Amino acid sequence: MRSLFVLSLLCLSSVHGQSSRTWTVGMSQCNLGEPWRVQMNADIRRAADDHPELTVMFKDAQNDNLRQRAHIEEFLRAGVDAILVSPKEAAPLTGVVRDAYRKGIPVIVLDRRVLGEDYTCFIGADNRKIGRALGKWLVQRLGGKGKIVELKGLMTSTPGQDRHAGFREGIKGSELEVIFEADMKWLEPNARKEMESALARFSRIDAVYAHNDPAAHGAWLAARAAGREQEMLFVGVDALPHEGQVYVRQGILAASFEYPTGGKEAVETVLRVLRGEKVPKEITLLSRVFTRENVEQGGEELE
Ligand code: FRU
Repeated sequence: MRSLFVLSLLCLSSVHGQSSRTWTVGMSQCNLGEPWRVQMNADIRRAADDHPELTVMFKDAQNDNLRQRAHIEEFLRAGVDAILVSPKEAAPLTGVVRDAYRKGIPVIVLDRRVLGEDYTCFIGADNRKIGRALGKWLVQRLGGKGKIVELKGLMTSTPGQDRHAGFREGIKGSELEVIFEADMKWLEPNARKEMESALARFSRIDAVYAHNDPAAHGAWLAARAAGREQEMLFVGVDALPHEGQVYVRQGILAASFEYPTGGKEAVETVLRVLRGEKVPKEITLLSRVFTRENVEQGGEELE
């Protein structure tokens, strides 16, 4: 296996008299248990398919920081030309990303951040802006007043922190009140359980803000089991065409805010780095909001 990488690393071939290189890139995905991550890998694969000079090796950390750290070390030992990583959590992955970067291996960090500045480029949407826009949307939708359940993403990951902080900014000054909040760690079964507790404790809930669509769906299942799904609105983040957007069409979610995977941009960026071009330290992806009113027209871009 290792000799294969070395071979690809050294592979200089001549195409039409021009010298062209082939590159091997390692991609460590924090887990593949959620549709959004499967989609990110598919987007990377599709973009890489247009570039025969690029080979991407995919690894799945199965939601385990230690396993993900080991991936980066394995990539380094294998002599990859660059690393893509979508970290599970910021702090545990920071050191190993820093080591790779300082050794001169380009590292593109996707969607969830590491701490500090020791990486080549970060690609992701603006989670604070998404949280803020979602908060404002709910304020408007509820007429400025209401009791809210917030089901938070893993709060040791940066999208969870930013979606939370942004939301609180968005509802500031209104009479929206968060009566129950819990960390569902991005996972639908956790969200469903937390929502069962919220339903048991509160006889009236006006809306559920879930940091991702799987959690919004889990909350809806809990409310439906209690016969209370009509009482409240459910709003989530991700808006995958085959997940969140479908929930909106089915009337399960009142809105879903898009969180683009950035897979295509990851491939474009890593190629630019490998060709020796300068890339920005940060690439911010745009996001759209999908509601019952606009989903058939393809949603609306966030301001
Ligand atoms: C998938 C996921 C998405 C979410 C993203 C945040 O693992 O939970 O649903 O938007 O991660 O990093």
